[in-house]
Amino acid sequence: MLRADAVRKSFGANEVLKGISLEIAAGEVVCLIGASGSGKSTFLRCLNLLEQVDDGDIWLDDREITDPRADADAVRREIGIVFQAYNLFPHLSVEQNIMLGPVKAGGQTRDAARGLAHELLGRIGLAEKAGAYPDALSGGQQQRVALVRAIAMQPRILLLDEITSALDPMLVGEVLDVIRDLRRDGMTIVMATHEMSFAQEVADRIVFMADGLVEESGPPEQLFTAPRSPRTAEFLARHRT
Ligand SMILES: Nc1ncnc2c1ncn2[C@@H]1O[C@H](COP(=O)(O)OP(=O)(O)O)[C@@H](O)[C@H]1O
Ligand SMILES: [Mg+2]
Repeated sequence: MLRADAVRKSFGANEVLKGISLEIAAGEVVCLIGASGSGKSTFLRCLNLLEQVDDGDIWLDDREITDPRADADAVRREIGIVFQAYNLFPHLSVEQNIMLGPVKAGGQTRDAARGLAHELLGRIGLAEKAGAYPDALSGGQQQRVALVRAIAMQPRILLLDEITSALDPMLVGEVLDVIRDLRRDGMTIVMATHEMSFAQEVADRIVFMADGLVEESGPPEQLFTAPRSPRTAEFLARHRT
């Protein structure tokens, strides 16, 4: 469904992605792991065109989305992204946050968008928060709303960038539960995470990035228990939970 081919990206003299190739199939959950600075966020940002690649290309089905003529807004409706923090607009209520995309970019009526917002909030147990403002929510609730806001656009692929890493450990579980539900519903997900046990549980495939390259990738059973690369083994030894 999504394919990156030899993607390179530099910031000034700092080459952050040195030729990343990765294919993601429909319904697959892929977890990106790797040390801070290894390029996970930059890669995810390239996948939904928040960063422009320097070289290589990215394909969504049979469309090259890195083609300069590609419609970036259309691509971003198909490839949603949720970040570590600051996902919600503070001056909009929860309901308004969720409605914004479907109304402004999805061409939905306000009534239809509001109905969808309430349905999605009900699914994550936050129906009563529809009128609340983000600062009245816990970090975990905010991230659940951020996930729902991304889902409201009915993306084909969801990119998640360390969405639990700014949370109080007590609140991580409720966000991971929403990801489990999305997986069960068949959503295609690419997530950068340092939650190793969660990655082991939900991922179809783990991709270990080091120095802007894919050092090793494989099913969690293999990668976590019998890594082929000494570098992977060393990373896992330091980050085992
Ligand atoms: N907008 C930017 N401008 C300059 N350097 C950046 C920018 N974004 C990321 N970098 C650099 O790219 C490298 C990789 O960062 P990042 O993709 O955030 O890694 P990770 O998410 O794996 O921690 C880091 O050295 C970081 O400083
Ligand atoms: Mg990052």
